[in-house]
Amino acid sequence: MESKKARLDRFISIKTGINRRDVKQLLAQKRVFINGQPATTANQVIDQFTQIECDGKSLQNNKPIYIMMNKPVGVISATKDDQHKTVLDLLQPLYPNVHIAGRLDLNSSGLLLLTNHGEWSRNLTSPNKKVNKVYKVTLEKPLTKEYAEVFAKGMFFPYENITTLPAQLEIISEHVAEVTLKEGRYHQIKRMFGRFRNPVLKLHRVSIGALALDESLKPGESRELTVQEVQSLNH
Ligand code: URA
Repeated sequence: MESKKARLDRFISIKTGINRRDVKQLLAQKRVFINGQPATTANQVIDQFTQIECDGKSLQNNKPIYIMMNKPVGVISATKDDQHKTVLDLLQPLYPNVHIAGRLDLNSSGLLLLTNHGEWSRNLTSPNKKVNKVYKVTLEKPLTKEYAEVFAKGMFFPYENITTLPAQLEIISEHVAEVTLKEGRYHQIKRMFGRFRNPVLKLHRVSIGALALDESLKPGESRELTVQEVQSLNH
């Protein structure tokens, strides 16, 4: 759901057909409630999650939804697909209006966030916001110290004409690295290791910002975020 900001009087007028002057009267008579409190200002800015009631009748009552999933390998990060099962097919209960906040490739696994709150997901995925995404990567060939230097410098991707933001690479064992990105370019990690001709065998996202994947979620399982977890991702 897009973040739709609007003036309160305009919103009520469109929803009810009452003209804006008469809406002001409704406010003065304390017949409009915003999130359970009488509304006082006609030009107050509301968004898609502001609860609005007029004369006891709900005009808007959307709830923000924030979900974490342990995405399994072989399921596609899309809302619809003709060939593969999608992450939305795995969601129980069904949440019809959610979208994915930062995709993972078909063969990648781990922390995937879904929400109906467009502004929230944009804040997490925009390269300008520089939110850390941490991945555990298993490689076909042994790693060397040179990898970390090249990742930290940034890599030029001629197709998009961009240089990747400095990324951190920590060698965990001969074939396993922990990579921290502040952006999510198309197949970014696979392409970065591709420069070393070192194929990625496994790619698992362990965290986004302050939020780590709940280890009790089995592949394919999901749960709603707690209020604290949602707040930990707000800047
Ligand atoms: N980089 C990739 O190549 N794939 C992902 O799924 C995530 C980051």
